[in-house]
Amino acid sequence: MYKEDFPFFENTNSVYLDNAATTQKPKVVVDKVVDYYTHFCANTHRSNFGDANKATKEFENTRELLKQFINAKESKEIIFTKGVTESLNMIASTFAKKFKTIIISSLEHHSNITPWHMQGRRLHDGLEVVNTKDNLEFDFEHFEELLKANPNSFVSITHVSNAFGTKHDIKRIVTLAHKYDSYIMVDAAQSLAHFEVDVQDLNVDFYAMSAHKTYGPTGVGAIYIKEELLKDVSTYQTGGATINDVSFERSIMLDSPYRYEAGTQNIAGVVGFGQALTYIKDIGIKNIFEIEEELYKYLYNELEKIPGIIFYNNSSNTIGSRSFNIENINCEDIGILLDKMHIAVRAGHHCAQPIMKKLNIDGTIRASIGFYNTKDDIDKFIVGLKKAITMLKD
Ligand SMILES: Cc1ncc(COP(=O)(O)O)c(C=O)c1O
Repeated sequence: MYKEDFPFFENTNSVYLDNAATTQKPKVVVDKVVDYYTHFCANTHRSNFGDANKATKEFENTRELLKQFINAKESKEIIFTKGVTESLNMIASTFAKKFKTIIISSLEHHSNITPWHMQGRRLHDGLEVVNTKDNLEFDFEHFEELLKANPNSFVSITHVSNAFGTKHDIKRIVTLAHKYDSYIMVDAAQSLAHFEVDVQDLNVDFYAMSAHKTYGPTGVGAIYIKEELLKDVSTYQTGGATINDVSFERSIMLDSPYRYEAGTQNIAGVVGFGQALTYIKDIGIKNIFEIEEELYKYLYNELEKIPGIIFYNNSSNTIGSRSFNIENINCEDIGILLDKMHIAVRAGHHCAQPIMKKLNIDGTIRASIGFYNTKDDIDKFIVGLKKAITMLKD
């Protein structure tokens, strides 16, 4: 029934199970973006006429909505970016740069690996990777060993793996990181749309978010920075709208968040993001979690019945995505056949090549769920998958 809210589904009969890549956008979000361009298209925080003031008000309203959505303490802790990738890069090239050691998990997206390599860090030379257990669970003992050997490090870890859906126990990870005087950034690309997040309760230092994974527009996201750390995060990019006063001798920057938001922002995107947050809030994130959990269990039960299926992790601690292979069949071949049947999943390495290499596989088939999906979508997917397997086995 929620599909009715999404124009995409009016125009297609496709089964869309690629929500981990990006979610569809509800009409209210599309309308909001059009509303900005049609009725109050003006720059923010600059001019002082009616439409410009409205644009600024709507832009700042999103900051307030996001603050409430993740239970941040202050609006200035929310800084808009292009998405998770830019949020991670921003902190990597400012606050985190000075740390001798960066600790990441084995399940990271390339966005949380390559920024560290770009700083010249290599495995065991400025970059440490926490092992996973056989079922892809986070190895807490190894994590503590790494922290003991490298106190005062910077930990950067995904909340939920995009490749396998494994959810990390962030609260426990944060507690351990802080015990060893380390700071922690969390990649929330795969969490914000699926379950309630409370950054104060999690006690994270940095939390990187993306609108397009959260029923909002592409090219916009945010980084949460804990208030007490703002003074230690240097500016990332500078220019228009970041300064208090400039002469040819020097620039005096504004306070957060403006000092970090250089140049004209993705105003339509930010305004649309606010609408997406309102849309989710109206449905209720707890409600979304329950809907998805039921769908997810159904998907897992149906997949489990397929002969030759290979899973890499437990379903109990898995959110949003289910990743698998079928014995002796190339995952990309299955993806191609499913596409011909108008079933959209992702087949490949999901921008997480290192864990694929560790598992000695090229990739997986990943079906990822949004709350608008139905059991009927899953049935169609399973029928298509069985058909593809039969075709490829013959
Ligand atoms: C876990 C994870 N981190 C980072 C990213 C990159 O996010 P964005 O597209 O917002 O830059 C993604 C997107 O696939 C992701 O799934």
